[in-house]
Amino acid sequence: MTDVHTDAQRYDKIARLFHWAMALLIAYAAASILIGDELPRGALRTFLSTTHRTAGALVLVLLALRVIWRLFHKPPPLPSTMTPFQQKMAHFGHVGLYVLMALVPIVGVALTFRRGGTIDFGLFEIVSPLTADRAASKPIKEVHELVAYALFALVGVHLAAALWHQFVVRDNIMARMR
Ligand code: HEM
Repeated sequence: MTDVHTDAQRYDKIARLFHWAMALLIAYAAASILIGDELPRGALRTFLSTTHRTAGALVLVLLALRVIWRLFHKPPPLPSTMTPFQQKMAHFGHVGLYVLMALVPIVGVALTFRRGGTIDFGLFEIVSPLTADRAASKPIKEVHELVAYALFALVGVHLAAALWHQFVVRDNIMARMR
């Protein structure tokens, strides 16, 4: 197994922090809304839906900071054992993840504002600048769900690729993000 043990082969500390913080927030955003949807109306369902919006909005904030960070900190090169085609596929996959990680929360914010809802950050909340229009919010909800499921699918491919590298190719690629 190839060893990734020099700093030049790994993402820097801040990039790794962004990666894992966003992974956790996306997992929470997904779990909270999917579990909440199965519950009867009540305090727990309201809590899960409120924190879904907060976690999702934080994904957007962290994404903006992450993109700025990446512009000034070049990621380590992919292993030379990967063919140019594999490197291109990895690149497209990563661009796709960035696009969807922006699109899903942006449409989520649009949905919340169209419903006249709020985004609660504990110390302060962002109130919708729009008057509630439930009917107009319906197609926005559909788009939010569609792009969210596209994001989950691409995250699945991302995870499968990481596991394939780790256990089949055995190039220890996961150490780049540890
Ligand atoms: C990465 C971030 C996000 C992910 C992965 C995500 C995922 C989802 C998913 C999968 C659903 C639909 C669940 C179902 O099938 O019924 C949903 C619904 C919803 N999301 Fe998000 N979302 C994110 C960010 C946001 C943000 C930032 C907001 C608003 C600030 C938001 C507001 C909503 C609302 C209002 C619903 C509808 C809930 C309902 O009517 O039951 N989401 N989200």
